[in-house]
Amino acid sequence: MKRSILWTAITGAILMSTLASRGTTATSGTTKKLFGKTSEGETVELYTLTNKNGVEATVSTYGGAVVSLKVPDRHGSLEDIVLGYDSVDGYVSDKSYFGAIIGRYGNRIGHAQFNLDGKTYTLAKNNGQNSLHGGIKGFNKVVWTAKQVPAKNGQALELTYLSKDGEEGFPGNLHVTVVYTLTDLNELKIEYSATTDKKTVVNLTNHSYFNLSGVGQGMGDILGHLLMIESEKFTPVDSGLIPTGELRDVSGTPFDFRKPTKIGARIDANDEQIKLGGGYDHNFVLRRKPGAMLSLAARVTEPASGRIMEVWTTEPGVQFYTSNFLDGSVHGKGGVAYAKHGAFCLETQHFPDSPNQPKFPSVVLNPGGRYHTTTVYKFSVQKTKEVTIHK
Ligand code: GLA
Repeated sequence: MKRSILWTAITGAILMSTLASRGTTATSGTTKKLFGKTSEGETVELYTLTNKNGVEATVSTYGGAVVSLKVPDRHGSLEDIVLGYDSVDGYVSDKSYFGAIIGRYGNRIGHAQFNLDGKTYTLAKNNGQNSLHGGIKGFNKVVWTAKQVPAKNGQALELTYLSKDGEEGFPGNLHVTVVYTLTDLNELKIEYSATTDKKTVVNLTNHSYFNLSGVGQGMGDILGHLLMIESEKFTPVDSGLIPTGELRDVSGTPFDFRKPTKIGARIDANDEQIKLGGGYDHNFVLRRKPGAMLSLAARVTEPASGRIMEVWTTEPGVQFYTSNFLDGSVHGKGGVAYAKHGAFCLETQHFPDSPNQPKFPSVVLNPGGRYHTTTVYKFSVQKTKEVTIHK
């Protein structure tokens, strides 16, 4: 069958519903189109999932990246709230991990090595002396196989990838499945699962950069967003951003987000950890123990638009990163320059460097076992502008 260059297929249930707040009509469903080709000639597709409220998530098969995410403000106006690029080339040359699936190991592994059963595994050093986000060609730099799957309450896309034994230095053939579901409750749910044929380590996450004011022309910073993190402790780091092993109490530090606090309130504090990160770039220990149940990890409110994002997860930690490495030199969608603190990330995860930290929750996956974690980004709005600000 001959394929046209740009093709769109509307599949799944087509359902007309009314956008109450705007009096417009939204068509829920999933569309697919060609995004482009990688330099190696691989075809990359874009899937757009739309729910009955008109909320829209677009995912690329390259890196499994969330390329755009359009959610309403308090007046029902939809805006894209994630950083990204207009073309596949942008993602191929990207060094910031915009929106991507991160693996086989999210965040850093110190000295780019670890031991399993007395054997040392050596990884590529792609971040000083350390390994970052899966190595040189992590899961953010591969083309995933996509398939639409049924979802009870929304639209779902399944992505699969086989990470071969020895890839980037990790042992075991790892079969990875990531399912994105955009629910009619305005949630973007991400379910990660994996199996292996050799003992290995796994830590998967998503690296979306959010700015709840919108990421179009004239985009501002995220310093006025209010953040609450369900965390009493964080993992301080050394100069290479590797955890020292300490779990430090947040009280009396710029890391205390137990009550909603402006992200910018203490971002320039005279604090050793803030200086090491160039802002926030730290793992927070979530209040609950890891397990099958989803728990609230964080809530972010943007007072002007009223947009609220909650992060729920089964994971024990979350990396709060205030895009300290962006400096305006990267131009993203619509040519917009992405500046320092132009967005924030909340990467749900096991703690960085866990393979070398026996006291941290284990990241080991055995043959016969199944890695399975879930994270939900839930969007809502604050109807009025009043907020409680912790001083
Ligand atoms: C994570 C890391 C940061 C940085 C970003 C990507 O959040 O902790 O140090 O590497 O990814 O730029």
